[in-house]
Amino acid sequence: MYDFAPTPGQPKAELYRELREAALALVQDEPDAVANMANLAAVIGMFVADLNWAGFYRMVDGELVLGPFTGKPACIRISLGRGVCGTAAASGETQLVRDVHAFPGHIACDAASRSELVVPVVVDGAVIAVIDLDSPTPARFDDEDAAGIEALAAAVAPHICG
Ligand code: SME
Repeated sequence: MYDFAPTPGQPKAELYRELREAALALVQDEPDAVANMANLAAVIGMFVADLNWAGFYRMVDGELVLGPFTGKPACIRISLGRGVCGTAAASGETQLVRDVHAFPGHIACDAASRSELVVPVVVDGAVIAVIDLDSPTPARFDDEDAAGIEALAAAVAPHICG
């Protein structure tokens, strides 16, 4: 049994350090990428407050395909350059969207989503997946959240490819 939980009231940098440690403990001895993404989606949901969706889209044959997540059922395939996820995957750059209604082409999988953070996962210079976080709160994410999820993505990347 895993019994991870964030320490209440801690600074974001500390929260994301703890999340990274919990995430690596979950994935480091397991070679199966799907199992690892499933546990990562779950542990992100435990540590990061105020989310209505957290999970992965994987790069498969040049498009994004839904991976393990927590939240409502979501759109399955996203073309590169489309929506927040497709923009992150095509550019290789984190997308921090304070107001999803102001993002041209935003794909509304859950009408409750108001802000979104999408971070590419890169292996050997190629985007292999994106981590997508949605919140029902406008402007839920800031640069510290982006840095925390980017560090998480870099740490777990070797464990979710293949
Ligand atoms: N909003 C995303 C689509 C995925 S869902 O949020 C889970 C986008 O615009 O790419």
